[in-house]
Amino acid sequence: MHKVSIKGTGSYVPERVLDNAYFAKLVDTTDEWIISRTGIKERRVVEPNQALTDMALPAAERALEMAGVTAGDIDLIVFGTVTPDMLTPSASCILQKRLGANGVAAFDVGAGCPGFIYALSVAQKFVADGSRKCVLVIGGEVISKWTDYQDRGTCVLFGDGAGAVVLGPSDGEGEILSTHLRADGRLWDLLYVAGGGSRQPPTHESLDAGLHYLRMAGHEVFKHAVRYMTEIALEALEHNRMTIDDLDWFIPHQANIRIMEAVADRLGIPAEKVIVIVDKYGNFSSGTIPTAFDEAVRDGRIKRGDLVLMDAFGAGFTWGSVLLRF
Ligand code: UT7
Repeated sequence: MHKVSIKGTGSYVPERVLDNAYFAKLVDTTDEWIISRTGIKERRVVEPNQALTDMALPAAERALEMAGVTAGDIDLIVFGTVTPDMLTPSASCILQKRLGANGVAAFDVGAGCPGFIYALSVAQKFVADGSRKCVLVIGGEVISKWTDYQDRGTCVLFGDGAGAVVLGPSDGEGEILSTHLRADGRLWDLLYVAGGGSRQPPTHESLDAGLHYLRMAGHEVFKHAVRYMTEIALEALEHNRMTIDDLDWFIPHQANIRIMEAVADRLGIPAEKVIVIVDKYGNFSSGTIPTAFDEAVRDGRIKRGDLVLMDAFGAGFTWGSVLLRF
């Protein structure tokens, strides 16, 4: 088996900013409530005519550039998302065309907020077994178009964005040390979009009933997120016979600063090792971890050789962790 490393990172968030004052005019909420309960000050959302691959394309191009490769070098595309441009074809096929990476295998992985971690885990195996040498992995979402802007329990939380990495055989420096994935489908009905699938296809009635919007039992999700993100972070460290002290950086999924702080507290990770972008972008599901990673690489916090732990939880329920040496 080949060791696999991250050759480049990239990300993109849309230009349009929605601040907390915008929501205080829409629903019964306040800037103070949103900041104290979630840590979110602003989030980015796409324009009505924009879709997921409009963000994934620049994110991917930036990752390719950092990796020093071109679209013609890509031999596989794996896209973690639950909000593709359209139901079919996959976002990865549309992105493949837009990049000009013609003919290479391309597929989406739907795993809620840990979508990037699931996609990275799948993609890594293609490089590890020697069958691929340059794999583009993306995590991204357009949650704003599935958000009910009358529901104060969800609308203040979500945004849009995408992040990407390029994987290849390790030249000795960096290495993805392990990935751990879990799911518990018994709890699917705590976080879901009911309409638009084969059980409840889109109809005038389903739209009128708001079935195409994301629904969440926020407090239940919160409790499970803290518990399972803590467990799967420890699983990653134990598997690699490492401790919290070995870690340079912790990149949790960015859903709520209180979840991130609770997990970091339980693990004993100091706040200065936690990468935070939830304050400026909100929760954009599978896009948050690769975007936080890219921003910290580009601003010089994460350096080659650093030990990084990624950790996410979301709809399914699904959860997962990645431990890597950058
Ligand atoms: O990406 C993975 C999936 N998502 C998450 O991980 C998110 C997980 N959940 C959360 O982040 C939090 O549960 C929320 C931010 C959604 C809510 O915070 P909470 O501390 O769990 O509050 P709560 O749901 O227990 O609600 C407390 C109160 C309720 O009012 P009552 O029933 O006590 O009168 C809510 O109606 O806060 C109310 N509330 C709000 N008040 C002002 C809920 N949303 C708002 C709001 N503004 N936007």
